[in-house]
Formats: sequence, structure tokens, C-alpha cells
Amino acid sequence: MEATFQEIYHRYYSDHEPYDAFLFHAQEELKDLSLEGKEVLEIGCGRGSFSLYMALWGNAKKVLALDESAGFGADETHLRRLEETVRNHSILNVETMKASINTTAFPKERFDVIVANFSLHHVIRSSWFPPENEKAQKELLELCTALKACLRKNGTLVLREMSRMNFWRFMPYRWKMSHIDWEIHPTLKEWLLVLNQAGFKDVSYEFLTPYFLSTWPSFVVRNRLANFFFSSTFYLYGTK
Ligand SMILES: C[S@@+](CC[C@H](N)C(=O)[O-])C[C@H]1O[C@@H](n2cnc3c(N)ncnc32)[C@H](O)[C@@H]1O
Repeated sequence: MEATFQEIYHRYYSDHEPYDAFLFHAQEELKDLSLEGKEVLEIGCGRGSFSLYMALWGNAKKVLALDESAGFGADETHLRRLEETVRNHSILNVETMKASINTTAFPKERFDVIVANFSLHHVIRSSWFPPENEKAQKELLELCTALKACLRKNGTLVLREMSRMNFWRFMPYRWKMSHIDWEIHPTLKEWLLVLNQAGFKDVSYEFLTPYFLSTWPSFVVRNRLANFFFSSTFYLYGTK
């Protein structure tokens, strides 16, 4: 049974995050990046809503939704449910893949766009605090370099990540979002450094707009200070 992205989201994902909030951030993240006719890899797709968004709303030619579906930060049922959704709704431009990006070697220049939302920091296996951990920095650099290799010329890497430098992390236990292991989250500065070292061109970032502040003027809510106090989330971009 074919369905629109909105119908699918309401049916399978709206318990997680309201549709309007999801859509707002998805559009904010992809900005003016057109996916029409493109081949896209999503790393750590989790429940897969973003992959479905890119395929159905963004009209990508093909989205490969990859997740290790095991280990810290993973829920084994998510990829299975995504597979069922893809099958039940005959979504031909989404393919799922249960694999770790660490052990998957894609052919060079295979994708036009690679997206990873809240997942690349999990891929690094060192438990770490980047400035003091050279091994972790090296791992992240190797990963970003490998991702660049499987992008086509002028292809784009898009990441959504949270910095460990934020107000909540220093709060007493019950306020600090204790489910998040802050120490494995590189800061914005560390991400920018590694993307530049990996040889991406036009490396840039944007702060996420907290949805509850989305009616406020952008310059008030999308700056370093607001980011420290509210979401600590940002989008990163690099071009091959
Ligand atoms: C915090 S979740 C984010 C899920 C989803 N992108 C989202 O925004 O809701 C991190 C995801 O990355 C996946 N992951 C972690 N390490 C991975 C690896 N080496 N290869 C592929 N996926 C990985 C986990 O299984 C998990 O689904």
C-alpha cells in the first residue's frame, strides 16, 4: 500500500517526535540540498524516519539506510520495523542494510550524499575525551576520510551532532540528560577540525533551532550562546 511521507510518519513515528518538529529539523538540516535523483547513504539510521523522509519527501533515487543494529545506542527492533514499513508500503527507493560502517567497504564514489544523524560519535570505538585521546581523533579522522572516498565528486556529507560542551552536562544528575554519554561527543570545533583534516571542501555548520523557539528570530536562537544553553546540537556540512 503506497503512502505519503506524512501518512507514514503519523502511523509509525509520531509517538517519538511530533511530525511538525521532525519536518522542521529535517528541512533545516538539508537546507537547499536537493536530493532529487541522488544516491544517499544514511549511517546509523535507527528507526529510519530520516531515510524515509529523504526518499519520499526528498525524492532521492535511492537511500541506503544502514545501521549496525547492535551495541550501545541501538535498538535491534528498529531496523526490522523499517524493513517491514518499506516492504508493506512498496517503497522502492529505500534499501536497508544491517551492518557496521566500520566493517563495510563501499566502492569509491558510490554516493552523492552521506547523512549521519547523532550516530558518527557512536562509531568511534575508543571511550574518549577527544583533546586527550589521540587514538579517538585518529579513528574519527580515518572514518571521515573513508566516507569522503565513497562520495562522488562534489558530493556532500551532512551530520547532525551534539557537543559535549553544554549547560545540561554540568547540571545535577536529574537534569543532566543522563542517558547521554557526553564524553563521547566531540565539540563543534573538533568536528570542524577533523572534517577539514579529512580534506572536505566548504566545511560549514549551522546551529539547530530548538523547535519550541522556532518562532523567535533566528539570530536570537541560532548562536553559540543559545546553543550552549538549549540543545547543543548542530549540523555540519562538507563537500568532496
Ligand atoms: C543515537 S542513535 C541515532 C539514530 C537515528 N539516526 C536518529 O537520529 O534517531 C545511533 C545509531 O547509530 C547506530 N550505530 C552505532 N554505531 C554504528 C556503526 N558502527 N555502524 C552503523 N550504525 C551504527 C546505532 O545502532 C544507532 O541506531
